[in-house]
Amino acid sequence: MRSTVTGGAGFLGSHLVELLLDAGDEVVVLDDESTGRPDNLRDVIDDPRLEYRVGSILDPDAVRAAVRGSDRVFHLAAAVGVRRIVEHPLEGLRVNVHGTENVLDACVAHDARLLLVSTSEIYGKNTADALSETADRILGSPLVARWTYAAAKGLDESFAHAYMQEYGLEVAIARPFNTVGPRQTGRYGMVVPNLVGQALREEPLTVFGDGQQSRCFSSVYDVVPAFVRLIEEPHALGQAVNLGGGTEISILELAERILSITGSRSRIRLVPYEEAYGDGFEDMRRRVPDNSLAHELIGFVPRTGVDEIVWSVASTLEDPGVARSAEWGAFRAYARARRTHIPAISTSR
Ligand SMILES: NC(=O)c1ccc[n+]([C@@H]2O[C@H](COP(=O)([O-])OP(=O)(O)OC[C@H]3O[C@@H](n4cnc5c(N)ncnc54)[C@H](O)[C@@H]3O)[C@@H](O)[C@H]2O)c1
Repeated sequence: MRSTVTGGAGFLGSHLVELLLDAGDEVVVLDDESTGRPDNLRDVIDDPRLEYRVGSILDPDAVRAAVRGSDRVFHLAAAVGVRRIVEHPLEGLRVNVHGTENVLDACVAHDARLLLVSTSEIYGKNTADALSETADRILGSPLVARWTYAAAKGLDESFAHAYMQEYGLEVAIARPFNTVGPRQTGRYGMVVPNLVGQALREEPLTVFGDGQQSRCFSSVYDVVPAFVRLIEEPHALGQAVNLGGGTEISILELAERILSITGSRSRIRLVPYEEAYGDGFEDMRRRVPDNSLAHELIGFVPRTGVDEIVWSVASTLEDPGVARSAEWGAFRAYARARRTHIPAISTSR
């Protein structure tokens, strides 16, 4: 089996590439290294079955060349992260709409099956108790940059569906909720690596708004294997499938857990959204997945709890300023003194 992974040098993509190589696939990566890093693939970069291509999904020739000869394509390349989208909305729209069209075209041209990685962001401000795949989307104004990501990803799903209908493309759609794990960077506004990094550096933990907004975090080790099972499951074709965490937690509670787990003496600082993202920024109060379709189709169950997720990030945080700092040493010594288990720094699943 030959698989192409767009965005394979990123957080989720690099874990997926490792998993596919482990399963015996040949893998082609296409990544423009905008938010991903080849270093994320350092454990497998010398594997002769891995072909690493630097290029953009905005370049149709590069996409076709990366897809040619592949049986299946995992499309993860995207402009991601609230901060990046708010600061560069145009780039986000172009990459997330036109780039995806190029991937869809290439899959049709080369007769490859596709897993389109969408996002729970498409549900917007819908705060239902459990969002099923048919839940309504409640988005703010198209002029509020934050919603352009959800709008573009929603359009991607519609495009994919239309390509299936009109060109017979075999496509399944994954909607991950907030997924966390080693190699995720806090640079673009991802909350767990941000807060863990602040805790390890003994800086104030910045929690936006009143901190009562809640999320269900899931682990990369639960979500990435589900990508592979979804593309292999014939009944998933033509469907969009939620992949979310099992426990709802407010961001304030999360920050408190992080302080307790890392033993940090940092304090929590509530920061108004406007201070962080400018006037008119909107966020959603809660987002809770209904995972029953994923369970029915592929037996998906999110097994990793919040504490374990925090540990996996803290113990592998790759920001050299943190991981090799005195604070990091102190953290490890602290954890040893408390006989707390620190997972080994590895990529094992
Ligand atoms: N991490 C999450 O919580 C989460 C949740 C829902 C959906 N997703 C989706 O999962 C996918 C991967 O996200 P991630 O969290 O791993 O982020 P990431 O930033 O680590 O990965 C995105 C990758 O795409 C690459 N990329 C960006 N623009 C590109 C372009 N024009 N051409 C080629 N490559 C490009 C980046 O360099 C990076 O390697 C995205 O599609 C994202 O929307 C992630």
